[in-house]
Amino acid sequence: MHFAIASSVHDIGKFYDMDYYIASKNYDIERIKKHLFHSYYMLNSESQSLKVIYTVAFHHEYYGLGYGPFNSIYLAKKTANPHHYSKNIISYDVYDVLNCDSIAYFPSKMLEIVDVYDTISHPWFDDQPLQADTIEVALNKMRKHFIEEEVKIDPILFDVFVGYLEELTQRDLSLYSKLKFK
Ligand SMILES: [Fe+2]
Ligand SMILES: [Fe+2]
Repeated sequence: MHFAIASSVHDIGKFYDMDYYIASKNYDIERIKKHLFHSYYMLNSESQSLKVIYTVAFHHEYYGLGYGPFNSIYLAKKTANPHHYSKNIISYDVYDVLNCDSIAYFPSKMLEIVDVYDTISHPWFDDQPLQADTIEVALNKMRKHFIEEEVKIDPILFDVFVGYLEELTQRDLSLYSKLKFK
């Protein structure tokens, strides 16, 4: 249930900068980053559960290659305890992530995939290099740019997502989830 809520409000912080999101064609990463923090404060003030708040807050982390609050949380942890190490890559328990026992939050990693897919296959993304007109092109671009070149989205969850789309479309999309091992 919390995943459904988080997904539907994951970009609610963009509300604070509608001029940019509606009218601007210039890619401004510093401005874009702010939507996460606005979302965080909005959901916090509505007393949403920690699961909802952090599913949203961590949805652009991309395993350390994106942006979001986890880096600051991790640095604070390492400063307090230089010997700390994270035992897990991914956890379904938000406290594991907040305590840095895990470096990624499972619901956020799922949301990242859905969010990237939704963004690059959206018509308003038409002037961007990653724009995709078909499911196959979208999955190919995601695999190339978000897994093969740099591991940003989770490869196993990506396979699950491809399987979900196969069920939905009754098409064989398995080709688009295959990792290439060099
Ligand atoms: Fe976002
Ligand atoms: Fe989004």
